[in-house]
Amino acid sequence: MGDPLFYPFELEKYLEDLLPDRDELLLEMEKAALEETIPVVTPSVGNFLQLLIEICGSRSVLEIGTAIGYSTMYLAQGVRKTGGKVVTVDMNRGRMERAVKYLQRAGLDGQVEFSIENALHCLPKISGPFDFIFMDAAKGEYDQYLDLLIPLVNDGGILVIDNVLFRGWVVPGSAYDAKYNTMVSVMRNFLDRLVHLPGFKVSILPFGDGLAIARKER
Ligand SMILES: C[S@@+](CC[C@H](N)C(=O)[O-])C[C@H]1O[C@@H](n2cnc3c(N)ncnc32)[C@H](O)[C@@H]1O
Repeated sequence: MGDPLFYPFELEKYLEDLLPDRDELLLEMEKAALEETIPVVTPSVGNFLQLLIEICGSRSVLEIGTAIGYSTMYLAQGVRKTGGKVVTVDMNRGRMERAVKYLQRAGLDGQVEFSIENALHCLPKISGPFDFIFMDAAKGEYDQYLDLLIPLVNDGGILVIDNVLFRGWVVPGSAYDAKYNTMVSVMRNFLDRLVHLPGFKVSILPFGDGLAIARKER
């Protein structure tokens, strides 16, 4: 058997090296996230989110799971080009306050509405629809978010979901610690549901920690 670690760090590092240089603020956020083990998207995923918003011309963007605002920076850069807005939700007040400060320092806070709430409570009340939704909060709640987010995706809009390959451990035959058994099977079941979701076309991209893109058909 080969390397038990499926998560392709070398590939991710190489993709990162191919990106344009990131500014000091993004590098500072990456350092903080790494030091405090706050799981944020990889730079190549952030770059992709921004590009996708620009390609699709998405104007109304919703993010579930802000943390300190690293992915929000890329989403906000995207909507700055399309003339749109990002609504970002996280229930951790301390992290959200840091996100607000980072976005202010980047001059991007005008593009973003920050909501300190539990997504499971606020999503049923939120006014949509959205052209682009990025789902990146608690993996164990992905099924519940999906139920609440399906009606919030605009016709032709897209739902992007992070961590769907869960370090590659969802791949049958991969080796991982037994303590992750439940989470691996939760994610496998979630992916199985997602790829069969009526009214959506889905593609899974194996970079970062695995990104799913689901487009609601018009
Ligand atoms: C993986 S981090 C988000 C990382 C961020 N998207 C980035 O890439 O920079 C997940 C975040 O989701 C938040 N979270 C978890 N469950 C939540 C819920 N039910 N409602 C709102 N936020 C939640 C956590 O507080 C955490 O900050």
